[in-house]
Amino acid sequence: MKQLPKDFLWGGALAAHQFEGGWNQDGKGPSVVDVLTAGAHGVPRRVTETVEADSFYPNHEAIDFYNRYKEDVALFAEMGLKCLRTSIGWSRIFPKGDEAEPNEAGLKFYDDLFDELLSHGIEPVITLSHFEMPLHLAREYGGFRNRKVVDFFVKFAEVCFDRYKDKVKYWMTFNEINNKMDAENPLFLWTNSGVVVEEGENAREVMYQAGHHELISSALAVIKGKEINPEFQIGAMVSHVPVYPFSSNPDDIMLAEELMRERYFFPDVHVRGVYPNYVLKEFEREGFNIEFLAGDEEILRNGTVDYLGFSYYMSTTVKADKEATHSLVVNGGLANSVDNPFIKASDWGWSIDPVGLRYTLNRFYDRYQIPLFIVENGFGAVDHIEEDGSIHDPQRIQYLNDHIEELMKAVTYDGVDLMGYTPWGIIDIVSFTTGEMKKRYGMIHVDRDNEGNGSMKRSKKDSFEWYKKVIATNGEEL
Ligand code: BG6
Repeated sequence: MKQLPKDFLWGGALAAHQFEGGWNQDGKGPSVVDVLTAGAHGVPRRVTETVEADSFYPNHEAIDFYNRYKEDVALFAEMGLKCLRTSIGWSRIFPKGDEAEPNEAGLKFYDDLFDELLSHGIEPVITLSHFEMPLHLAREYGGFRNRKVVDFFVKFAEVCFDRYKDKVKYWMTFNEINNKMDAENPLFLWTNSGVVVEEGENAREVMYQAGHHELISSALAVIKGKEINPEFQIGAMVSHVPVYPFSSNPDDIMLAEELMRERYFFPDVHVRGVYPNYVLKEFEREGFNIEFLAGDEEILRNGTVDYLGFSYYMSTTVKADKEATHSLVVNGGLANSVDNPFIKASDWGWSIDPVGLRYTLNRFYDRYQIPLFIVENGFGAVDHIEEDGSIHDPQRIQYLNDHIEELMKAVTYDGVDLMGYTPWGIIDIVSFTTGEMKKRYGMIHVDRDNEGNGSMKRSKKDSFEWYKKVIATNGEEL
């Protein structure tokens, strides 16, 4: 079998709010996640009005990367990472979001971090907005439901592009812009868009309006970015949970096809620069009134992305004659989702389906014909520490191994153009959906628990050495 390209970007993925901590250090303002309390599997996280003195906010300190980044980057380098995907905390740069001038201390932190990465030969891959909108923009402007927030985002993007133009080549505009298609789950609209749906409003209509503003913001950022440095590679980032038909019943097949539009709408616009007909028909059918300004169509056409980044954790399976029940997309579910008898799930109910990754790569590549980048994939599990301090994580190794095997088939057999692979949470971090620490993805363990206790000490799991070898052999030795 032919090999992966020599410049394949093996890496790891993280997001500022889930690992940096230092939530109010050096002038950083509160972001939408700084008012998120901890939850658990089946227990939603609470959004508080302000930061309450007696509530626990796991992201405030997270794993304290902000103050320990040199030690952590050295570990990433030891593992042999070729790139690190992380994000810029928007409220580090613009604490409230609507200031005229950025916060120099925030900009300096990322200068130092990118220098540190580059000095170890690790390429930064940067998401501009990974669930970190300044709280002020959400509270005072209504988040992305307000067109003014487009200008604030584009300014933030421009400042970052300009400052880091010689240090960062690979960018993404919004993380998992499409997970708010599950508009009934307040966590997604809040963290993606800073939006709270009011009583009497149609959540899906609100979602499309905020989504339109984000798509415009992304396109404007791409246009600006290319002016600043034509060498930039600017991508989109979507969450992808493929939808399988339960059976060969044509009704199951058509239902799965229709529900795949929940996944495709945002990347369709990002990549093709036009709204797909199936969504325009939905607006017509539902009577949705989404405000488009004169010039928006041109902006979308001119601001298409260079590549498509996506997260892949699981698949879901739907059955047409199942009574529709709402199950949250955090577990990959949709109304009409049923258990797939061929697929097992993690302790958090996330199905484990490596073949679904190859299937996804092929469907995306057939549809868009642009380079793809797997920027999240991984296995969240409880780790057990042995008496001698070692951590054996064969399940995680198995999960990653099986997914890498499938991505290799997609590249070497199917001919998909794949830029790289950055498994999620390369070091243990705070879970996004539950706020827990015990849902661990890392190959580096961090001594911290759900309540915020622990020494923060870092130690290597078995997966650390395993992944190091995978990278060193460019995926030949799994
Ligand atoms: C993706 C997000 O949804 O999945 C990450 O981009 C998140 O921010 C990851 O952490 C895994 O989800 P969780 O809830 O297990 O942390």
